[in-house]
Amino acid sequence: MKIAVYSAQPYDRRFLDEARATLPGVEAVYFSDRLELDTVPLAQGCTAVCVFVNDILDAPVLEALHAAGVRAVLLRCAGFNNVDLHAGARLGLFMARVPAYAPEAVAEHALALVMTLNRRTHRAYVRVREGNFALDGLLGMTLHGKTVGIVGAGQIGACAARIFHGLGCKVLVSDPAPTPQLNGVAERTSLDAVLAQSDIVSLHCPLMDATRHMINSDSLAGMKRGAMLVNTSRGGLIDTAAVIDALKSGQLGALAIDVYEQESTLFFQDHSSDIIADDVFQRLMTFPNVLVTGHQGFFTIEAMREIAAVTFANLACHMQDSPCANALPHT
Ligand code: NAI
Repeated sequence: MKIAVYSAQPYDRRFLDEARATLPGVEAVYFSDRLELDTVPLAQGCTAVCVFVNDILDAPVLEALHAAGVRAVLLRCAGFNNVDLHAGARLGLFMARVPAYAPEAVAEHALALVMTLNRRTHRAYVRVREGNFALDGLLGMTLHGKTVGIVGAGQIGACAARIFHGLGCKVLVSDPAPTPQLNGVAERTSLDAVLAQSDIVSLHCPLMDATRHMINSDSLAGMKRGAMLVNTSRGGLIDTAAVIDALKSGQLGALAIDVYEQESTLFFQDHSSDIIADDVFQRLMTFPNVLVTGHQGFFTIEAMREIAAVTFANLACHMQDSPCANALPHT
């Protein structure tokens, strides 16, 4: 069996090849290209494709893959907002994801963003290297005693709640599902209350129709003035234009994002010699109180190993026609 690995970077190849060794008879071909209609022909002769967060798996792409002989779609990520589940089910495709490879890695990255933005270590690093030891502009707040709101208290949100609780913060969570593992760590409340009371709001819920642009001009107006917003989940949770307005007015005090709604044309590639055409993104980059990382929350050795191992375990389920706990819901 041959699998086509899309959006493959050298680090993906390293970890996937290690895990592939455990599944004899499986050959992998790696493409740096993103999966979209034009790149479907790369999967010719393959019975499975392996994809990542910004690959496109809408109905036309899934139909074209199926026509090319592909029967399995292996997501090497947790979120599956980029997959047309109806189309996959109609075509009888096996589709599986890696639901929780290292929730701590993403939660720790959210903490890194908060710490950096709050204490301006990114600015201090540059200043000190230039011999400038002035503190003006580097004033932060003590996190101990502050209120942190976690929106979405699943695997990653629960880790984030425990981390901020450990720092001595009061932690509020908003999640429509029960979160019993947070007893004694966080207080459950509504989204409106989380937004109104938190000094820092960290988003950890999936991107779905119901959550798209959950942070918009109305919800921003309901936040504590000057609060910090952190998004390590999916860019589409935030209406970026509304966030820019809130930053300009001072209603939003700081923004840290590891994900961006239009990230698929930017992230995971070196654009340092290119003219970036995305004016909204470029406007964000002008704010001193905005910190952006390029979707690296998951990027630890442990998480990469887990992603690769679970991806091939999912493929083994497909090859053996055995039940797969990580199969995507067939709607
Ligand atoms: P999870 O499925 O364990 O938890 C998601 C939680 O969000 C669930 O408890 C669910 O009930 C809750 N939720 C659903 N709708 C909600 C709403 N309207 N308001 C508040 N909560 C809501 O997922 P997990 O593993 O914690 O991942 C969360 C998200 O993190 C993923 O969907 C993915 O988009 C993102 N992610 C980002 C990574 C990165 O590298 N930056 C890496 C991995 C995941």
